[in-house]
Amino acid sequence: MSSPSTTQDFFTQVPRIPPDAIFDLTKKFLGDPDPRKVNLGQGTYKDENGAPWILPVVKAAKDKTQDANHEYLPILGLATFRKLATELVLGKDASAIALQRVASSQALSGTGALHLAGEMLFRALGGEAPVYITKPTWSNHRQVFATIGFEVHDFKWYDDNTGQIDFESITNTLRNAPPRSIFVFHASAHNPSGCDPSEEQWRSIARIVQERGLFPLFDAAYLGITSGDYDRDAFAIRHFINECGLQAAVCSSFAKNMGLYGERIGLVTFVTQSSDEAMAVESTLEQITRGEISNPPAFGARIVSAVLEDESLRAEWARNLSTMSTRIADMRKDLFNALIKLHAPGDWRRVVEQRGMFCILGLSLEQVLHLREKYHIYMADTSRISIAGLNPSNVWYTAEAITKTVQDKNLGRINYK
Ligand SMILES: Cc1ncc(COP(=O)(O)O)c(C=O)c1O
Repeated sequence: MSSPSTTQDFFTQVPRIPPDAIFDLTKKFLGDPDPRKVNLGQGTYKDENGAPWILPVVKAAKDKTQDANHEYLPILGLATFRKLATELVLGKDASAIALQRVASSQALSGTGALHLAGEMLFRALGGEAPVYITKPTWSNHRQVFATIGFEVHDFKWYDDNTGQIDFESITNTLRNAPPRSIFVFHASAHNPSGCDPSEEQWRSIARIVQERGLFPLFDAAYLGITSGDYDRDAFAIRHFINECGLQAAVCSSFAKNMGLYGERIGLVTFVTQSSDEAMAVESTLEQITRGEISNPPAFGARIVSAVLEDESLRAEWARNLSTMSTRIADMRKDLFNALIKLHAPGDWRRVVEQRGMFCILGLSLEQVLHLREKYHIYMADTSRISIAGLNPSNVWYTAEAITKTVQDKNLGRINYK
């Protein structure tokens, strides 16, 4: 009997993908033995000693979850978490909640929430609607939506020359996009530019979204840690949904605002036209999750619930948010003052004008690499820095290194591109 012809070429067509730039940068930083090294790459909060910060409120909440069992959660996640986190993001009195026009599912942090939202919208809109992401944006946005099958377009959000948002580009893009297009907005603390619309500008954006029949999807990764006040940071979301009555998706993460990076705890919330639609959307979210991960992890959901269901822990969380956002704002001021004192050539106002964890310094790639190689200061190739990596012991060193690098005539000049 002759054996069927066989081939061993199972993986010959698999391309080798370069490592993710920001995770690779962290790896290089960790492997650097130089004691002066500074990590301004990955956007994770660090305390004034450069160490990860376990929020006191999280410590207290963890104690409360010690007796929890290890059974599976329901497919949509922990019910108390979904309820409390939905009320947190939309506001307890949101009419969409009262009218049961909200569908929600626990998700694997912000990224998982974006993925679930994308999968849901792909089913709802047949994949015909394009997704618009800002330029620049978080390095994973394009990948999340393109992997699902969406056509992804970017639009200019930030003006390199002024260090401010490009409001004209934003409104022109909204006006010219086909109806039903999906717009991914950063709810607060735009990553990487740190430039958010004013409340007035958000109102104008909402008006155009409404007029043109566009679908807003909010990436809410930094609520509470941007200004220190969760409600204030949720302004855009609540304006679109509660005041304008728009349908929307909100992708919340508790990585940054509770320091629960590794627990992968997030929530996707859809606001629909009717309770029937909300039930349909929720059942679809349930089916998607069953096929992908069966059901989500319990630990992070229990911690967040323990915080949100207890008034005194909520108050403690508010204090912790203020600690983080104040330290970040202080570091912005310290870096700015040091650059001015050192007469670093360039306009550094953006360091104090931009909000949240990130700031684009406006350095050339050559300058960024010089800072990495000569001074062991690690930042993204785009010269985006995570302000949370600065502290009183390294901010002057960092400012001196930036100053010397910018003064070095042999290196590519500051380019705000
Ligand atoms: C804008 C933005 N969205 C989403 C995320 C996702 O974060 P996570 O999946 O860790 O919650 C991040 C993380 O850096 C981010 O900056």
